[in-house]
Amino acid sequence: MMDIFRKKSVSALMANSQGKELSRSLNLLDLIFLGVGCVIGTGIFVITGVVAAESAGPALTISFIIAGIACALAAFCYAEFSSAVPVAGSVYTYSYATLGEIFAFLIGWDLMLEYVLAISAVATGWSSYFQSLIAGFGLHVPESMSSAPGTGKGGMVDLPAMVIILLITALVSRGVKESTRFNNVMVFLKLGIIILFIVAGMGYVKPENWTPFAPFGFSGIITAAATVFFAYIGFDVIATASEEVKNPKRNMPIGIISSLALCTGLYILVALVLTGMVPYRQLNVGDPVAFALRVVGQDSIAGIISVGAVAGITTVLLALIYAQVRLTYSMSRDGLLPKKMANVHKKYKTPFFNTWLTGFVAAGIAGFVDLTTLAHLVNMGTLAAFTLISLAIIVLRRKHPELKASFRVPFVPVLPAISALLCIYLTLSLPGITWISFIIWLAIGFVVYMVYSRKHSNLNH
Ligand code: ALA
Repeated sequence: MMDIFRKKSVSALMANSQGKELSRSLNLLDLIFLGVGCVIGTGIFVITGVVAAESAGPALTISFIIAGIACALAAFCYAEFSSAVPVAGSVYTYSYATLGEIFAFLIGWDLMLEYVLAISAVATGWSSYFQSLIAGFGLHVPESMSSAPGTGKGGMVDLPAMVIILLITALVSRGVKESTRFNNVMVFLKLGIIILFIVAGMGYVKPENWTPFAPFGFSGIITAAATVFFAYIGFDVIATASEEVKNPKRNMPIGIISSLALCTGLYILVALVLTGMVPYRQLNVGDPVAFALRVVGQDSIAGIISVGAVAGITTVLLALIYAQVRLTYSMSRDGLLPKKMANVHKKYKTPFFNTWLTGFVAAGIAGFVDLTTLAHLVNMGTLAAFTLISLAIIVLRRKHPELKASFRVPFVPVLPAISALLCIYLTLSLPGITWISFIIWLAIGFVVYMVYSRKHSNLNH
């Protein structure tokens, strides 16, 4: 029975990656851009509107600050975890070396849920802006194919969301990666349109729209924080890049804090301008940022924003599909998932089957499940992972004093404990159905581990 806690040795991991040492090529600015590139997407461009209308009102600003603090604390723990085990990989790999196989499997299983549903959720947001964009040219997707069922928009399936996922899957399956330069261009574009919105919208703010400031009270603000948390997802890639960063001791904490601070600052300004331009009750639309500009008659700026949002959200999709494939590829290579998922295509040198499996599953979900339901589940999975990682830092310091992390969380165990508590607190305001679905998913994972993965693990040999 104890074999479920067996660990991969750090030296074996290092032997594995020998000769494949990543060069330390990223500087501080690259690191910040890497984070911002994966973060800014559907969360700020779409979810902001629903949440303002239904949970927070103008106090959405406060929700963004609370969610930002939770992310910053977790990010510190992520950074230490990834720099303690000196090989490239994800939280899954680090847990395998430090906490044991069952934890590694369950974290991997949890991240799989997070990534797949995040791909679907982000694509749903893409679809909204794509439709807003083509509407400017008088083109419309037939109503029945424009959104998932149950959103009150008369849709049966969200066809554009499914198509974009399959298109990006085709790219990733052929080995297309986001280069640093392409990413930097996209980040400039995204920052550009967000600043354009803030500047163009500012003049139309009517302070009376900010009262009442918190129409749904404190509980509404917290519920909103648990939902807009989605807008920050993706910054953890900064932490996992620690092996490729120059001078990680200095650059990791500065990189994490400054990219989170940058996003938080922009999110607060967007929330303020958005709720100031339009009464919050009207913001329950698929493209709130462009919508607010159309309400005040700035149709051409709204068009520019839609173009930028469509392009910017596409890169988030690319990064997420890539992350999901990389994760399931490692799990399969370790024997914890069927070997077929680690098969590499002869010509393209990519896990072709695995990539298409990811694409089809995510597209199937994106077509039929609405954004809010998806975002809640993604947040649940992420907050659970953050909680575990925060607690793992405390365990790591006690059990593995020999691991010399190049970045260390300050004030252990206080800071990781606060991080875990804040994450748990946020999960408590997610809907009951999210909790039930999440628990079912983990239970399935546990059974899969016991019945399949434990027997097929490479550590048996
Ligand atoms: N944070 C990413 C987004 O908002 C997932 O699209």
